[in-house]
Amino acid sequence: MNSKDWIVTDDGHCESRPASREWDLIRDKYYFHEFLTEIINLLRNISNEEDEWNYLPQIRRRVRQLVINSYWLHTQYLEPSPKTGMATRTLYNEIGYPLTVQTATFAPNVSSNVHNHGTWGVVAVLKGEEKHTFWKRVEDPQFPNKIEKVGEKILKAGEIISFTPHAIHQVTAIGNDPAFSFTIYGDTLPRSRFIFDTTKHTAKPF
Ligand SMILES: [Fe+2]
Repeated sequence: MNSKDWIVTDDGHCESRPASREWDLIRDKYYFHEFLTEIINLLRNISNEEDEWNYLPQIRRRVRQLVINSYWLHTQYLEPSPKTGMATRTLYNEIGYPLTVQTATFAPNVSSNVHNHGTWGVVAVLKGEEKHTFWKRVEDPQFPNKIEKVGEKILKAGEIISFTPHAIHQVTAIGNDPAFSFTIYGDTLPRSRFIFDTTKHTAKPF
């Protein structure tokens, strides 16, 4: 397994970050509910003046701990739908819960739309390969939602990528097998999550 960490900033730059060493993260048992509790406690201790995404290194570390120790996580695979070529499985939710925790599957050559999340996010590739394309907003008085491509990164199983709230990306499964990943997102900021149309230069909330 590759064990590399990445961060994508609001302007679409993807930078390498130090990853935790696997042997520091090995636990005898590490249940999904323990992972969620650790993340919730981490977010609770953030003071009002601080931004949650400053804690991305600690969140990535716990995601890696989960990927390494939870056999169960790797069983939460869903076959991509024959219609859309995608599938998502929600791993936990309740009313008002501040986290979105899912697995996502993309069939080979299938792409997501171009979007941001309006909150921090961490994606761990569990199987296959994902290409992430990054975009940034450009100033254009005529088209306030115009974006341009900044770069791309191919991620293999074991790699973890994280995003600040306004980072814009698109995911494409590459290779011959479906890409399967674990995703965790925070609470979406109001009116800040969009799908972008890169030819009409428009954006719609989602
Ligand atoms: Fe995304």
